[in-house]
Parts: sequence; structure tokens; C-alpha cells
Amino acid sequence: MSDVTLIDARVTARSELATDICALEIEASGRVPLPALDAGAHIDVHVGGFVRQYSLLGPPACAPERYRIAVLRTTASRGGSEAVHRTLQVGSSLRISAPRNHFALRLDGAPAVLVAGGIGITPILCMAAALHGRRTPFELHYCGRSIARMALVDELLGSPYARSVHLHVDDAPSGRLDVGRVLSRQPAHAHLYVCGPQGFMDHVLGSARAAGWTDDRLHHECFQPAAAASGSGDRPFELWAVRSGQRIVVRADESALQALRRSGIQIASSCEQGVCGSCLIPVVAGLVDHRDSFLTAQEKAAHAEFLPCCSRALENTLTIDA
Ligand code: FES
Repeated sequence: MSDVTLIDARVTARSELATDICALEIEASGRVPLPALDAGAHIDVHVGGFVRQYSLLGPPACAPERYRIAVLRTTASRGGSEAVHRTLQVGSSLRISAPRNHFALRLDGAPAVLVAGGIGITPILCMAAALHGRRTPFELHYCGRSIARMALVDELLGSPYARSVHLHVDDAPSGRLDVGRVLSRQPAHAHLYVCGPQGFMDHVLGSARAAGWTDDRLHHECFQPAAAASGSGDRPFELWAVRSGQRIVVRADESALQALRRSGIQIASSCEQGVCGSCLIPVVAGLVDHRDSFLTAQEKAAHAEFLPCCSRALENTLTIDA
């Protein structure tokens, strides 16, 4: 699928964290050691013909002996999470990518608000540990439908930063998160980090923007593809790849990524659904028909980058740095 170097690995521990959520510990099984990870990073997991992205639970370490991930089995699963739950047991072999981080902490010492919805707690857990280690003030708000469906609660409440953790459970007296109230008590330079289902993130980020938070203080991670990544009404367009000096026609029935590869231009990729950001290419000229869940609204409006696995051109030609 991509030219990302993969690491041979095996599962060394498995546990059930909550309803439909399992945790896996993964060690390198070959000669390539596991690379260091930053808070917010994720890896690609290759299993059963699927490639899926899962955040690393951390804590961050210079030379980790093992990675830890948590995987939610989704009813709307396209098969990836189901394959992980069904096939990955202690001793199972798999291949993983090195960590990539599109959700990095801004280490400027400013206070942070971490907001997680459901399985979105996975990168947030690692971020909380990192902020605590740096003595950066933060609040962690973890929202879920019921405590039975919320992973890692015991770990959070037993952590040295437990006093910064706030649970918001729909069916408990604590009730739902009042985003406006939490945001209103933050200083003007605070950062907001959000991870969870798309609707949840839209609500939290929308509330922040309505309260005057600027996009440079808003950070989010999404694992779901945009609703309409492609359509039958697509039309062909031309890619002018300036670095390789090629003009490439993207047919109506193929992605820009496929067209680039057909022309011999290799672009790294992973999810191929506009989620992970692996295939990001700089745009030199032209307007992009953005169809991804990765770029922010501000980045999309700038038309300076695009994700060829799902996005297309709004005009006849898109000039790219490839
Ligand atoms: S490969 Fe993941 S966004 Fe393009």
C-alpha cells in the first residue's frame, strides 16, 4: 500500500479494557528495534489485509521496549477493528509502521485542555503523562456513554495527575461535559486538544471557535474518514507535477494517488481515506477539492497542501510539488 518501512512485531500481552475495547502490547520480533514515540503519535497496524491507525498509549520513552494500543471494535467497522479483536492474541505476528505524529503537543509551556470522547482517550492518555512530566498545567476531560464503555479509567484515576482528570458519563450523576464552561475559565494562550468521534469533535471545536479560540490553539485527531470521500460524479483533471516535470491526467475513476503512482511518482500512504495525513503533498498553484478529515478548515482554505488519496481539483489543473 505504501513505501513506509514496516517493523516485524508480535503481541506480548492482551487484555480487555472495557466493553468492546481490548489493549495490546507489541514488541519488535526482528532486528529493527521500536523507534521512540512522542505523545499523540500513532502507528499503522497491518493485520488480515487491513491497515489501521492506532494511537500509542505511551508513556513517551526514548527507547520503548514495547508499544501499547487500545482498539475499539466498532459496529460500523470496515473490518479492521474486527480483525484485530478476532485474530491478534498473545504470540500473534503482525507488522507495524514507525510512529507518526500529526497530533503533537505544542511544548510552549501554555496550559492545556485535553478532551477525549470514547476511544479518543488513547492519544490523550499519553499527552497527559507528557504534560505532567513537564509540569505543564492541564485539565483532562473524558466523556463516555457509560463507565463500562470507557477504557483506562482506573489507570487515569490511579495516575499521579488524577486530580486533573474529570470524567463525564452520560448515564451517571456527573453528566455531560459543559464545554463552554470549561473553556471559559482557560487563559487566553491555552491550547485545546480533542480526540473522539467526528460529531463530538465538531461540537467541542465549534464551541471553542464560537468562544473566540483561534485555530492555532485548536488541535484534533480524527480516525474516521470524511463522509463523502469520493463520488460517482467525479471528473478528470490534470496534475502538473513540477519537480518531476510530468503532466498527469487523473481519470474520473481513479484517485490522484493512483494516477501519480501510475506515472512512476511514489508517494507514501497509509490509510488511503484522508485520515492519517501520510500522503500530504505541497500545492504550488490551483484550488483543491478537499475531501479529507485531516487538514483543518484553515489549512483547506489556504489550498497549500492536499491529500491525493482522496482529494481532487476544483479546476482543470492542479500544480503540485512532486
Ligand atoms: S494515505 Fe492517509 S491521508 Fe492519504
